[in-house]
Amino acid sequence: MKIIMLGAPGAGKGTQAKKIAEKYGIPHISTGDIFRANIKGGTELGMKAKAYMDQGQLVPDDVTIGMLLDRISEADCTGGYVLDGFPRTIPQAESLTEALNQRGEKMDYAINVDVPDEAIVTRMSGRRACLSCGATYHVVYNAPKSEGICDACGEALVLRDDDKPETVQKRLTVYHDQTQPLINYYQNEGILVTVDGTKELNEVFKDITAVLGA
Ligand code: AP5
Ligand code: MG
Repeated sequence: MKIIMLGAPGAGKGTQAKKIAEKYGIPHISTGDIFRANIKGGTELGMKAKAYMDQGQLVPDDVTIGMLLDRISEADCTGGYVLDGFPRTIPQAESLTEALNQRGEKMDYAINVDVPDEAIVTRMSGRRACLSCGATYHVVYNAPKSEGICDACGEALVLRDDDKPETVQKRLTVYHDQTQPLINYYQNEGILVTVDGTKELNEVFKDITAVLGA
């Protein structure tokens, strides 16, 4: 099963993608996590991405598209995957569609996690992230078992550099300009599913699995 997660920054794409990946036994591929791992590792790709990410801007398509297409060519992707944070622009979506067509494959679902802007800024200030394994928590809505420590890998949790309110606002503007048009794109492809992302996170997951099947 091949799935795309769509939604504003902070809508819960990462939270739901992790749960989908676990339930269906497919890899969770987050372009944001790949960039953050590269920043942490001090790679050239990381340096390049950081300059854009800290401003709330998108990393250019010429960097992002090749990186993602390489990732989905790896051996663990043969049974499908859940993409979180890609595509984010129409050229990214078109490149993905074309690459899949060339392999005689297609995407199965694009799940749009719908949350209004007003709810986003509050969520982001309470988010804590694990830069080692990509797990995401919230100090109120999804707290780790022990404060400040990742349940999955035991690393220290951090507030992401781009979760400052002014940067979140910028990311929302970029989302509406460049990423929201993908909702129509995947509606036209006939694979769009929209879920109400304002519900409690296990309720959101139930709505998603009702579509994906057991
Ligand atoms: P990325 O890491 O993808 O960030 P984003 O899209 O801004 O999304 P977030 O990770 O902030 O939010 P999310 O939807 O995953 O929400 P989460 O589950 O954490 O990208 C970062 C940057 O990298 C971009 O700005 C860009 O610069 C660059 N980049 C990445 N991909 C790119 C691409 N393809 N092209 C170009 N540039 C790219 O949830 C948020 C919080 O809410 C958490 O605390 C969570 O616990 C909580 N929460 C989740 N669900 C609920 C719920 N139902 N109720 C209450 N709280 C909830
Ligand atoms: Mg995320």
